[in-house]
Amino acid sequence: VLATLAPVPSDEIFDLNRAYARDTFPQKVSLGVGVYRTDEGKPWPLPVVEKVEKKLLEENDPSRHEYTAIEGDIPFLELARDLMFGFDGKNASAEQEEAKKRIASVQAVAGTGANHLGGLFLATHMKPKNVWLSDPSWANHMTLWEMAGVPRKTYPYYEPKTRSLDFTGMMATLEAEAQEGDVVLLHACAHNPTGLDPTKEQWMEIADLCERKQLFPFFDSAYQGFASGSVVEDAWAVRYFFQHKPHMEMCVAQSFSKNFGLYGQRVGAFHYVTTVAGVDIRDTVVNNLCHLIRGEFSMGPRGGCSIVKKVLTSDELTAEWYEDLKVMSSRIKAMRQALYKELVKLQTPGTWEHIVNQNGMFSYTGLTPAQVTALKEKYHVYLLQSGRASISGLSEKNVAYVAQAIDDVVRN
Ligand code: LMR
Repeated sequence: VLATLAPVPSDEIFDLNRAYARDTFPQKVSLGVGVYRTDEGKPWPLPVVEKVEKKLLEENDPSRHEYTAIEGDIPFLELARDLMFGFDGKNASAEQEEAKKRIASVQAVAGTGANHLGGLFLATHMKPKNVWLSDPSWANHMTLWEMAGVPRKTYPYYEPKTRSLDFTGMMATLEAEAQEGDVVLLHACAHNPTGLDPTKEQWMEIADLCERKQLFPFFDSAYQGFASGSVVEDAWAVRYFFQHKPHMEMCVAQSFSKNFGLYGQRVGAFHYVTTVAGVDIRDTVVNNLCHLIRGEFSMGPRGGCSIVKKVLTSDELTAEWYEDLKVMSSRIKAMRQALYKELVKLQTPGTWEHIVNQNGMFSYTGLTPAQVTALKEKYHVYLLQSGRASISGLSEKNVAYVAQAIDDVVRN
């Protein structure tokens, strides 16, 4: 049997990580995987997370390693939902309490797990003819939907000449080709890999189009609060669809990997939004999701979600978390500026404003695959073949070196 196994491409992001780890060159720079790094190039356990970890240790709760319900830790799920959709926790209005009944939430194995579970759920119960992914998108979206067995199509998203969002192309393709019931995958903010997001007006048009053509919006929200520093701003699109299109079903895959720096803890949630606010229908959706969860992984992991839960239950800790979010988003913005300035100083051929205009973790630099290879081989600077660079890998110490390297590969 093994002899008949077809070769399968390995994951570029994690391959690059491994190659970087093996590289012994002192000035090596990792701009590959999307993880936050300090100006010293180190991982950054968020101060609020460290504080809560200590508290949890002190509390020594004897049930901390128990099973949760199949849907996951219910108080955590309520907090995650409130954060995503903008409900005011315990002070929610009667209208908000009603709106909460439209949302079925379950815990998932971080963002990937939430995307996967959502894909499986839709494939099983809605049987969409196609899923529409942006071109380009996070490579794992392709894999996830392939595994769900839903045919994948792409809508234009990036205009290489102007290095901007191809909104016209996106809308024209979906308008002409998407069929009723098709899933449209949308990045809630900080599009991975391009760093290009629709404007609010464009989001409104996308919402109208989905409603009119009866498409199913599937939001991937991996960067809430991490991109702009504001959890409200980064949830704008999801909240707009939810509030303004009550007759449209949709779903959200929510990750806490980046915004809490809990990458390896696999904290996430999947929210399915129904058009009817009713406990019965919500429970039926949850139960169906639980059926899939039980058969796959029984329940989401507990450790990281206990941390998030503790932060989000306390106003004081939530305020500290907001500060941590600002530290991360501001450093990334500062590094965009620093790289841009260095390239301008060097008069590197081409235009580089897009580096400062793009949003979130990544810059879609426009560097060609050959230039990316040269950066790695000659300068030990690692980024994806598509030219995607994880900006957080830049620091005050290495940004001039990286700019020099880019300058050289662009010229030669
Ligand atoms: C990335 O795109 O680099 C991150 O989201 C990490 C991952 O899981 O791919």
